[in-house]
Amino acid sequence: MEGESKRFLESVLAEVLAHLEPPKDGRIRHDLAPSSLRKTTDLELPIIGAGLDQVLEDIRTYLNGAVRTDQPGFMNPLWGGLTPEGLAGELVAAATNTSMYTYEIAPLASLIETAVLDRMRQHLRMPSGAGTLTTGGSAGNLMGVLCARQAALPASGHDGFDGRSWCMFVSKEAHYSVAMAANVVGLGRANLVKVDTDGQGRMDPAALDRAIQRETELGRRALCVVATSGTTVRGSFDPIQPIADVCEHHGVWLHVDAAWGGACLFSSTHRHLMDGVERADSVCWDAHKMMGLPLVCSAFIVQRVEVLRAACAHGNEAHYLFHDDAEDQDLGRLSLQCGRRNDALKLFLAWRSRGDAGWGALVDRYMELAAHLSERVRSEPTLELVGEPTWTNVCFRHVPEGVPHLGESIDRHNADLRVALLEEGRFMVSRADLDERVVLRSVIANPAVESSTLDDLVDAVLRLARTLPVHAKSQVEEPRA
Ligand SMILES: Cc1ncc(COP(=O)(O)O)c(C=O)c1O
Repeated sequence: MEGESKRFLESVLAEVLAHLEPPKDGRIRHDLAPSSLRKTTDLELPIIGAGLDQVLEDIRTYLNGAVRTDQPGFMNPLWGGLTPEGLAGELVAAATNTSMYTYEIAPLASLIETAVLDRMRQHLRMPSGAGTLTTGGSAGNLMGVLCARQAALPASGHDGFDGRSWCMFVSKEAHYSVAMAANVVGLGRANLVKVDTDGQGRMDPAALDRAIQRETELGRRALCVVATSGTTVRGSFDPIQPIADVCEHHGVWLHVDAAWGGACLFSSTHRHLMDGVERADSVCWDAHKMMGLPLVCSAFIVQRVEVLRAACAHGNEAHYLFHDDAEDQDLGRLSLQCGRRNDALKLFLAWRSRGDAGWGALVDRYMELAAHLSERVRSEPTLELVGEPTWTNVCFRHVPEGVPHLGESIDRHNADLRVALLEEGRFMVSRADLDERVVLRSVIANPAVESSTLDDLVDAVLRLARTLPVHAKSQVEEPRA
């Protein structure tokens, strides 16, 4: 490449690098309503193109308005920060644009993807298996349920099936994508049974056993159980070992959703949270969450590769793509996608740079930071830690003196507090419901976070809470039962 295109791309890279400097005003987000943003931004797609100078201008506008997910104050979702190897991998993958369906057009990329999946499988301590990179944990959960269907009803991919006589089981605190998977595979959300959890948000294996028995007596067959390693709000880990016992007893497929918690396997201190995962039939694990790779980078791994292969079968209609002599090399036969990005490269590069030890140190550091934040919250009389963190989700809320701990007013107060934080623009945390309370959920999954960031967050919460209208006792509704 030379000339104008090359100069253009050099300028883009310079803009991106300049953008990644800390924001001068300390804000990671500018509070712009869609209506005002629409008014101030030129979104028209022209009939006659305006050329690369215009594009550079558009890129500047885009960067100016982008939420600074790379900055330490960004603690909103289960991912954040910027991994240089990850960004490099994205750039190289885009520059060498290919699709992962055949070895023929993605030779080294195919080997890299297989190597990465094999290493993840070794960390799961699964003796055999294979997998694929998907578009995320939601797709990984869908593939888990689809493989369960394939294993239980081998003809279903061809003949279809009536899902109404089947059901599947998940904890009450599981991610919503499991409900979508129930819908997509033809079971229906009504046939998703939500199993009770204990006081720490973990699926109760005895309750699971009873639920399977009850459904069986009602004439419905159990298709699969989805256990969660790292729930979305609380960060709980379902006890896999006893859940696997229940699944084995009833002959039910066990899928583990480790989208959020899978990285614990790198830490000798914390890997016990997933004890028994080697007994799962399938697992999904997002490297774009705690491992910090740019979205998306997500693995789905299954013990019996023939089940995945059959679940992704399409009757060999793609004669223009897949040929018998490359059957064992073409990763497209293990995927629901046709065109598929090379998401493995960035994970491979980051892994080469850090090694298992680097990932383990990252997890341990995040856990220490989460413990630091929990301690800070505990030490403040007007803050309440909601739930005891087992992972790096720290859920808390502000309770002004004289206001009951439960009820609509205190929920509203914390919802307002989060809005005040957002408007100030220095921190982003999410709002969730936990144990019948509206909480601020901050998540440590951003390599830029330091303990001083967390101290600043607590200070900002306390300062902003004081600016909100005080809810006098007389104005406060009775706590909810
Ligand atoms: C426990 C859990 N599973 C699955 C998902 C879905 O993952 P993705 O956003 O990669 O589709 C999430 C997302 O936060 C999650 O928390």
